[in-house]
Amino acid sequence: MNTLDAIDDIDEPLIEVRNLRKYFGSGKRPVRAVDDVSFAIRKGETLGLVGESGSGKSTIGRTVLRLVERTDGEVRYRGEDIAGFSAERMRKLRSKLQIIFQDPYASLNPKMRISAILGEALSTHGLHKGAAARDKRIAELLETVGLRPEHASRFPHEFSGGQRQRIGVARALAVEPEFIVADEPLSALDVSIQAQVINLLADLRERLSLTMLFISHDLDVVEYLCDRVVVLYLGKVMEVAPTAALFERPLHPYTQALLAASPKPDPLLPTAHVALTGDIPSPIAPPSGCVFRTRCPHAIALCAQTVPPLEERAPGHFSACIREDLISAPMNLTSTST
Ligand SMILES: Nc1ncnc2c1ncn2[C@@H]1O[C@H](COP(=O)(O)OP(=O)(O)OP(=O)(O)O)[C@@H](O)[C@H]1O
Ligand SMILES: [Mg+2]
Repeated sequence: MNTLDAIDDIDEPLIEVRNLRKYFGSGKRPVRAVDDVSFAIRKGETLGLVGESGSGKSTIGRTVLRLVERTDGEVRYRGEDIAGFSAERMRKLRSKLQIIFQDPYASLNPKMRISAILGEALSTHGLHKGAAARDKRIAELLETVGLRPEHASRFPHEFSGGQRQRIGVARALAVEPEFIVADEPLSALDVSIQAQVINLLADLRERLSLTMLFISHDLDVVEYLCDRVVVLYLGKVMEVAPTAALFERPLHPYTQALLAASPKPDPLLPTAHVALTGDIPSPIAPPSGCVFRTRCPHAIALCAQTVPPLEERAPGHFSACIREDLISAPMNLTSTST
């Protein structure tokens, strides 16, 4: 079985990532930021991408949009690999694929009024030519994200963090995208306004039937917003599952540890959690075999020898772990942490 099994039963995929690799630096010891990752996203689906800092989430998001060129593998949009797209075709495609950044402060030009920021997005893609049509569209966009048309004449510093993130969302929506990468869109916001932006994203997704890759550290938000989840560790996929299955019955020891470390662990899960200890190894020299084995409480000698394939353990639920004995009884973990 190979890693592609996890995507071949996804019907109507809008985006397919196949055996994607992104190595930074050349020579013998590059940073293996993304190392043979495959997944697909259905039209209208929100796919969560979770994993600790440095696991390669942002690199995947940027590579999928071709903001960063891949080292190897494929990114297909409606079945076609976008690597082969001409500059002109890529420019057209860019209007269909948008990104919402983590930091609403840094991603908006402080010297531009909101009307100019949104107007620039429209004109880059040749939409709504003419001042009247443009202004009408800008007013509509502001209303879509819960702001008022008169906000168009203001500068970014005149808004709160949550409002600025709404402007970031409005800018992404300006070009009527089909697919949005939201890269930690909440992490720069106060907890009190995170909920507003989450609800905004959930609402827009329904109304505009957006397809979304949602990158987050926050497992609660992922559980709320995502249809399926990909769990990443050191540039590799550990587990892929429908959201409910992942949270109810995490199969991979890494996912189990991540859930246990979540600030609000599920009260229904047994408390015999295995805490994550130790640092993530360097992506320049990842461990042989299973990359998680150096932190895994269940590792055995065999784990150092082969890269575990992503295997389907339940319908649509894939895990890359050779310890099937654990997988058949995932709740019988005994804590090894002190
Ligand atoms: N431009 C770059 N040059 C060299 N290494 C890079 C570059 N961008 C990312 N990396 C490395 O690639 C790995 C993955 O980084 P990435 O930013 O994708 O992780 P992440 O999962 O998004 O982390 P975080 O949760 O902190 O945002 C890290 O080891 C990082 O240091
Ligand atoms: Mg990141």
